[in-house]
Amino acid sequence: MTEITGEKKGGCPVVHFDFNKPRPVNDYLRELDQLREIAPIVWNTYGGGFWMFLDDKSVRKALHDPETFSSEATIPTVPDPDWHWIPTMENPPMHKLYRRVLNPPFSPRAIRAREPRLREHAIGIIEGFMDRGHANYVDEFAKAFPTKVFLEILGLPHEHSEQFVAWVETVFGGLGAEDDNAAQAMADAQAAIHQYFVDLLADRKANPREDDFFTSLTQAKIGDRPITDEEFLNMCDVLVLAGLDTVKSQLGYMMYHLANHPDDRARIVAQPEIVPQAVEELLRTYSIVMDGRKVIQDNEFNGCPVRKGEMVMLTIPSATRDEKAYLNSTEVDLDRNDASHLAFAAGPHKCLGSHLARLELAIALEEWHKRIPDYEIVNSEALYETGPQLGLEELHLRWDPKR
Ligand code: HEM
Repeated sequence: MTEITGEKKGGCPVVHFDFNKPRPVNDYLRELDQLREIAPIVWNTYGGGFWMFLDDKSVRKALHDPETFSSEATIPTVPDPDWHWIPTMENPPMHKLYRRVLNPPFSPRAIRAREPRLREHAIGIIEGFMDRGHANYVDEFAKAFPTKVFLEILGLPHEHSEQFVAWVETVFGGLGAEDDNAAQAMADAQAAIHQYFVDLLADRKANPREDDFFTSLTQAKIGDRPITDEEFLNMCDVLVLAGLDTVKSQLGYMMYHLANHPDDRARIVAQPEIVPQAVEELLRTYSIVMDGRKVIQDNEFNGCPVRKGEMVMLTIPSATRDEKAYLNSTEVDLDRNDASHLAFAAGPHKCLGSHLARLELAIALEEWHKRIPDYEIVNSEALYETGPQLGLEELHLRWDPKR
């Protein structure tokens, strides 16, 4: 439970909000909704302490202001990280040069061309278990589908998928953790991912391939000079961390919502054309990324003295439910038709994979509901989520295979 300490920092409320504990599903969103009612900005004493920006306006403003809110540190509890993710931890103007290299394979046109293959993967996975009448949705679909897609887009072997899933889960399990074991496991997993790409880099340099993402990346130019090995490796680390767990987490919440809301589910089945709009609304209501920035210039934000060197959490899962930005903001309304939400952030660091993610989410909903229109949650009592990137640990679904 969040503790409202009654203290003030520069006139702004001080709370203790532990974003690393497993909690019953939707607890985080409920607590963030309550915190936002207290103030748009609070100081959190968790970890070394950091500001939490909770409303749409503050989060949006900070995302567009890298001169005040630097990306050199993006985990609110780690102001001086000993790693450097590219492009995540770069600021303009270098950031733009890296995005220029990474954007092409993730552009709307490049992603659209992949739609048939993505659909095949989704159908193959669903048809693998649909006659059984039950599945562990998180493990069997939400992890499996984005991993297959991701490895294929990047030209990596499918048999490495379990290894990637395990690494990524360990890293996210350690983000912001106060306990030393989780932090050590995170460091080990990061080192293992890094080593995988050290070997891959050597291989692609020795044996360049046609039409291969990593071969092109080894030959990329940053401005007018060749990419360095270190830059290559730091980009690879980010792609793996950003591309897998996010889609898994988002899918978990989407299906959790639809399993519990038969009317919304029935609309997706009867009117599949509303799926892209439903994806936006579910992204908005169940946003997952709680990202950080480091303050590099003193400023006053909503009356709070935000000082150089302090960390800020851009609490997107709260901002997207801000009642000042959206009518009935905490309710899912499949007719809302508004993609201006911050689920993929905004400004220079807006998600590189947003077009891919949107397509994966839409295909997942469409192909699932064509085959399994009605289903229920088996483990409602034991549903837990964790932060700082929100996600359900498990979601067991069952359905009547004869329907
Ligand atoms: C539902 C799924 C996803 C969500 C909700 C999501 C959300 C986000 C958010 C909020 C950011 C901004 C982080 C910041 O400002 O510090 C971001 C950045 C990023 N995302 Fe995603 N993401 C998703 C899927 C993906 C996928 C599939 C990829 C695959 C490549 C990806 C790659 C990236 C990268 C590389 C960045 C860093 C961009 C930069 O710093 O310029 N994301 N994502």
